[in-house]
Amino acid sequence: MKEKIYKRFQEIFGAEGEIGVYFAPGRVNLIGEHTDYNGGHVFPCALTIGTYGAVRKRNDNKLRFYSMNFEHLNVIESSLDDLTPRKNAGWTNYPKGVMWALREKGYEIPCGIDLMLFGNIPNGSGLSSSASVEVLTGYILNDLFDLGISNQDLALLGQFSENNFNGVNCGIMDQFAIAMGKKDHAIFLDTADLSFEYAPIKLEGAKIVISCSNKKRGLGDSKYNERRAECEEALEEIRQKVKVDSLGDLSEEQFEEVRDAIKDATRQKRAKHAVYENQRTIKAVQALKANDIELFGKLMNASHVSLRDDYEVTGIELDTLVEEAWKVEGVIGSRMTGAGFGGCTVSIVKDDAVDTFIEKVGTAYKATIGYAADFYVVQIGDGPAKL
Ligand code: GLA
Repeated sequence: MKEKIYKRFQEIFGAEGEIGVYFAPGRVNLIGEHTDYNGGHVFPCALTIGTYGAVRKRNDNKLRFYSMNFEHLNVIESSLDDLTPRKNAGWTNYPKGVMWALREKGYEIPCGIDLMLFGNIPNGSGLSSSASVEVLTGYILNDLFDLGISNQDLALLGQFSENNFNGVNCGIMDQFAIAMGKKDHAIFLDTADLSFEYAPIKLEGAKIVISCSNKKRGLGDSKYNERRAECEEALEEIRQKVKVDSLGDLSEEQFEEVRDAIKDATRQKRAKHAVYENQRTIKAVQALKANDIELFGKLMNASHVSLRDDYEVTGIELDTLVEEAWKVEGVIGSRMTGAGFGGCTVSIVKDDAVDTFIEKVGTAYKATIGYAADFYVVQIGDGPAKL
């Protein structure tokens, strides 16, 4: 891949000067969904698929961008003197957002760059292609200009740019999972204080399979912000009864004691999901440590039910993928992953059931939804790197 992108960079931008090639992964979340903006726990991991970037410094302030995924767009030009989000600038708003964020935080970007990207994360799949581009850009600039930023701070910078430059009110999970990824480990992160631990994922005799619904998220971003607002309001109501900083501070029992303080049935369901999902995530990591993968799988299934019934972020596509997966013998657990409203599911499937899984779930999905799903057997990889 390195050679391929290097060669294409030379074709598009010319061969002179020093060209660096970098990589940042995508991510999948194993459990702990819609908890990262509720002060709860998440359990994501970086993947070996992600975004490659080739880059060269320029002698002026120009920015030239090219994506091998969108070759029809040709070279998109911009400038360090004009770091504002543009409606028609497509993906380039992500690297530009990170440059803007660096400046906001007081870092100096002394010159423009030529940047070429190639991503092998399926587009719009909910495997965090945008966070991957953000962390990649931060990592590249940090390296090119010796900015001395830690990977954890690159994650925060990526989130800051996504929230404030691109207007998506996401939590910290995606950028953190990508910037801090570790081969064969998932990250058990407490989003209340960013304390974390790496947990080895040794799935003896089983694989992680991602099923992509091919349903684009569409209205997802506005629904996402709506869920956040519902949780914030529920928290305020609960705080009339008990002093907590976030929904993640509550155990299930504590929540049941105060849930009546939430004056609306829908908001009660949203808050219930946030509280129970956080506790499920803690239990899932304990199960994994005790080598109880069956229990881990059951908690994944319960997570999906809660996202479907209480948080209402699944939809027929994700529900079909998951409910068909549950029917297949050898499936240890299956749930939607990421924001929902489209995107992917994650399943843990015994080695000898993987082919049947893809066949059966794929056929049923096509029959119900009318178009095909895609399946990826994935590996857990490291965070960003210069290649
Ligand atoms: C998206 C957001 C994350 C997180 C998930 C849901 O991926 O970017 O911050 O909130 O949705 O768990």
